[in-house]
Amino acid sequence: MKIAIIGSNGQLGSDIYEELRENITGEITALTHTDIDVSDMDSVYSVFNDIKPDIIINTAAFHNVPQCEKEAGKAYAVNSSGVENLAKISNQLKAELIHFSTDYVFDGEKNSPYIETDKPNPLNIYAKSKLEGENKIRETADKYYILRVAGLYGKYPSRVKGYNFVELMLRLAKERDEIRVVDDERTTPTYTKEIAKQILKIIKSKPPFDIYHATAEGECSWYEFAKTIFEFAGVNANLKKAVPGEFATEVNRPKYSVLENHNLKKEGINTFKHWKAGLKEYLSSLNI
Ligand SMILES: NC(=O)c1ccc[n+]([C@@H]2O[C@H](COP(=O)([O-])OP(=O)(O)OC[C@H]3O[C@@H](n4cnc5c(N)ncnc54)[C@H](OP(=O)(O)O)[C@@H]3O)[C@@H](O)[C@H]2O)c1
Repeated sequence: MKIAIIGSNGQLGSDIYEELRENITGEITALTHTDIDVSDMDSVYSVFNDIKPDIIINTAAFHNVPQCEKEAGKAYAVNSSGVENLAKISNQLKAELIHFSTDYVFDGEKNSPYIETDKPNPLNIYAKSKLEGENKIRETADKYYILRVAGLYGKYPSRVKGYNFVELMLRLAKERDEIRVVDDERTTPTYTKEIAKQILKIIKSKPPFDIYHATAEGECSWYEFAKTIFEFAGVNANLKKAVPGEFATEVNRPKYSVLENHNLKKEGINTFKHWKAGLKEYLSSLNI
């Protein structure tokens, strides 16, 4: 089997590359932004006509949320047209396309976990461009898996920020007398290694081509997440709940974006653990 991973030096792509390299017999090609630009059709065609993969895994995105508001053209070029380019080449090569989308396609008004058939209503340019990317795949690709993920952290840094929320909290605990975190935004923080394991399961079990919610089990506010980080890491931090609106930004985000892995469970292939178990595993890998 030949598999190509786009964004292979990113937060999620790095873990997927490791997981597949260790557990799949075949050729795993790791592609970075230097090797391919998904928004450039010529680049996409030339790279994949050369490799001819059976499976294309796309972790690439323009996902700096405030920056997407300022550079909407780039957001749509990477997150929508780029994804359409991948759908087209996948069809030409009769390859499967595995793509990642986001919990942000929802508006948060439901206030209970979203399943795959719930109606998206994205609130910002990033989320709109990601939803358009999903729709391009559904309209164009013959063989696809779209995985909606949320709140990622892992041992490899996000290419956007260079650190994740867990690392930020541990650093702030050393630097500040008081740490203030929002308690009115709920999601499910998800360890990227858990997603990599779920991808392996999907590749091996071949469920129907569809959209799959793919996050850790359970839910929490960012404050509850921070509290648990300090508890598990044995760090004594002065953590306080931020007053609603304290960190107001110009970009609208859903207050509630918890996803239920309904389709993975229906197929009997959900491999995700509770978010607290993922956090424990991640923290133990940090040797703190
Ligand atoms: N991070 C989260 O909490 C979160 C939440 C929900 C959904 N997601 C989704 O999960 C996926 C993975 O996120 P991540 O945190 O792993 O991101 P990341 O660390 O920023 O990695 C993204 C990778 O894509 C590459 N890339 C960007 N633009 C590209 C282009 N035009 N062509 C080819 N490669 C390009 C980046 O390379 P350069 O850095 O060199 O440009 C980087 O290697 C994305 O689809 C994102 O929308 C993330």
